[in-house]
Amino acid sequence: MPEINLEDIQKAANLIRAGKLVAFPTETVYGLGANALDPKAVAEIFKTKERPSFDPLIVHIHSLAQLDLLTKNTDSRVYRLAEKFWPGPLTIVLSKSKVVPDIVTSGLPTVGIRMPRNEIALELIRQSGCPIAAPSANKFGRISPTKAQHVEKQLKNVDYILDGGQTTVGIESTVITLHVDGFVILRQGIITKEDLESVLPQSLQSIENDEQISSPGHIKSHYSPTKPIYILNEDSKRMNTKNAAFLSFGSSAEFDVKTTEFLSSSGNLTEAAVNLFEKLHSLEESDCDFIIAEPVPEEGIGIAIMDRLRKAAHKYLKS
Ligand code: TXA
Ligand code: MG
Repeated sequence: MPEINLEDIQKAANLIRAGKLVAFPTETVYGLGANALDPKAVAEIFKTKERPSFDPLIVHIHSLAQLDLLTKNTDSRVYRLAEKFWPGPLTIVLSKSKVVPDIVTSGLPTVGIRMPRNEIALELIRQSGCPIAAPSANKFGRISPTKAQHVEKQLKNVDYILDGGQTTVGIESTVITLHVDGFVILRQGIITKEDLESVLPQSLQSIENDEQISSPGHIKSHYSPTKPIYILNEDSKRMNTKNAAFLSFGSSAEFDVKTTEFLSSSGNLTEAAVNLFEKLHSLEESDCDFIIAEPVPEEGIGIAIMDRLRKAAHKYLKS
């Protein structure tokens, strides 16, 4: 991780306090942050990202005191989760307190809270003196940013970008909600169902298997590169692939392609998660015509990676 420049963080914190937008690194992806308690500043996030107002934001905190300010939580399981996974890539959806403006939660009575595991992010929240609402710093539906340059490429009206180098996890936090008898994963991430079960007794259905449980951000198309992307299957072998890029998880392409990029050359899922958005960004800028992605095994972190790949490919599915 690059050295933290305290003056830059101070400057960014002053901007947050003044109602401006600051993009900052977290361990997962870069966030587009604003003072979570300032509805006007939060409205600018939606405008800049072209994000629909029905999709609620995650609020980032640096201390458990801020959790108590923002939520009506009295559930001891939350503190057990916090002890094990915070700071870290876990977002917990909880009943919100009155201080959270409705625009942050898209009018829902709940708010997603997370304490990021990144020193720049934590220091920014501390110096700002307020919790920071931040979605991923990409245009709605496009590839999430894992570098400051990815933010610059997509978003033009950001007041300041804190450059903390490449993020270390690479995909967004696991989002969960708690029920009396267990938890539900609303978005998959590198903290897996099995990790959560080491702290909480029981996982209920994951959202993929239960259309009844909904998260407003749970949409089929997302994370899409500007070039078509397809997941490798029997049909891909019949395509003319000589101008395609192959996004590999260890294998070499069994057909002619222009170029091959590896999510991980050794088939390592953690490494693949780190590289996923970075490789998609570089391939959308490359001169290939389209991308064919090799599926990864759907176990552990592979579940979250396949979730991102399927959503990236969804709008290019042939009907
Ligand atoms: O790793 C991350 O979570 C990154 C970094 C910047 O922290 N943030 C991020 O935010 O991915 P965003 O806005 O791109 O995704 C937030 C997800 C959305 O799918 C949203 O619908 C869900 O969290 N979410 C937020 N608040 C919610 C709530 N109250 N109820 C259900 N889902 C919620
Ligand atoms: Mg996002």
